[in-house]
Amino acid sequence: MKNIAIIGTGYVGLVTGVGLSEFGNKVICTDINQSKINNLNSGKVPIYEPGLEELIKKNINSERLFFSSDIASSLKKSEVIIIAVGTPQSKGGAADLRYVFDVVDRILENLNSYKVIVTKSTVPIGTGNKVITQLQRKYEENIDFDYVSNPEFLREGSAVKDFLWPDRVIIGTKGEKALQIMCDIYRPLYINKNPIQHTSVETSEMIKYASNSFLALKISYINEIANLCETVEADVHDVAIAMGKDGRISDKFLHPGPGFGGSCFPKDLEALLSLSQEHNVTMETLQAAIKANKNQKERIGEKLDRLISGGIRGKKIAILGLAFKANTDDVRESSSIDLIKFILNQGGFVNAYDPIANKNMAKIFNNIHYYDNVYDAINEVDALVIMTEWNEFRSLDLNRIKKSMRNNYVLDTRNIVNMKDLSALEFVYDNIGRLKI
Ligand SMILES: NC(=O)c1ccc[n+]([C@@H]2O[C@H](COP(=O)([O-])OP(=O)(O)OC[C@H]3O[C@@H](n4cnc5c(N)ncnc54)[C@H](O)[C@@H]3O)[C@@H](O)[C@H]2O)c1
Repeated sequence: MKNIAIIGTGYVGLVTGVGLSEFGNKVICTDINQSKINNLNSGKVPIYEPGLEELIKKNINSERLFFSSDIASSLKKSEVIIIAVGTPQSKGGAADLRYVFDVVDRILENLNSYKVIVTKSTVPIGTGNKVITQLQRKYEENIDFDYVSNPEFLREGSAVKDFLWPDRVIIGTKGEKALQIMCDIYRPLYINKNPIQHTSVETSEMIKYASNSFLALKISYINEIANLCETVEADVHDVAIAMGKDGRISDKFLHPGPGFGGSCFPKDLEALLSLSQEHNVTMETLQAAIKANKNQKERIGEKLDRLISGGIRGKKIAILGLAFKANTDDVRESSSIDLIKFILNQGGFVNAYDPIANKNMAKIFNNIHYYDNVYDAINEVDALVIMTEWNEFRSLDLNRIKKSMRNNYVLDTRNIVNMKDLSALEFVYDNIGRLKI
């Protein structure tokens, strides 16, 4: 078991730190955000992830998990250094790698013994090579380090589970010693099966982008099939069930919705596209997936405008669900952002409710009303729109809602409300690609 420093304690860094300490390693999670570290040290968890808080407590008590803003000393104390900082989209679409290279500079200043330097952040193919070159250039003599690409595949909302029971762990490295050390830190994973796949650095970097892009492509595909279903009187729900029974297709990621968001798919697709353009390789499928997703987000606003008699102007609309998906408080690139903007631009008013993401959305919109429960949010509204597939929206008290709303329009962008119930209560409703009852 190893001493590990995680640099960047965001969604990925924190879950990785907690997961690796659960595997028996001694982990220091570091961040330049001092208040985040202070909060963690006083027991406040900055993000919502099922099971995370309990596991943090458990591993702090076992003295395997620590939080520190002293990055230099954490680097010196650790044999394995994991870079988990953000790689946001830059203006041109490419990944902005400034945070990664800032960390590489810090590592250089503090190299005091052999280190395994691991990149967990999602970085474009070729980045590992640049990091290695930077590390070697600065020191004329051969410094003692190995480089590893170890991309992360966790999903927000089930991040802890995904980390502890991953489908695969990719270890991209040339160094035999580093491979051994990485297998060591993930040791508990291969008691039953061995999910570890050893590749080159470049292949590992590509696996992450190829996986995310494929999933995004699948979502854009089913969204477009749903849109066509609406005009040819087919039901996308039945279509998706039947498609999913084909083992070559699988039933995962075949749920139509308001377009994908989150901190990964949108920026990762743009980054891969930008990389392909840099290398003069045409990727039509990727371009189409990005365009289809933009169209889908716009389509939701237009659908709502068409649904409400007289359009959105002057109407009060409840948005149920602000997070980009259920079980997370992350609103980055959430489709709700596009819809709220659209409604406000059209001259409508917004009541918003999310079980845990209100606070994050309030950093983006301070000109809408936030509520702590569904029933306050829908009071006297003209329309309600379900944007996130939170479980509590699957069992709404529609009778109560009907009585409280001023008007009776429902747009269910996640296809989770029973259409028979909506019809029985004489709601005027729409969804994505379903045959209306
Ligand atoms: N969020 C996901 O679901 C997910 C899944 C897989 C991969 N990834 C990838 O993992 C990476 C991190 O994503 P995230 O969502 O955790 O980001 P995040 O924005 O939640 O966290 C990044 C953290 O890094 C810190 N940081 C920035 N510069 C630093 C520095 N120089 N030293 C120390 N800390 C620094 C920030 O303060 C922040 O706390 C990205 O490349 C992302 O694409 C994310």
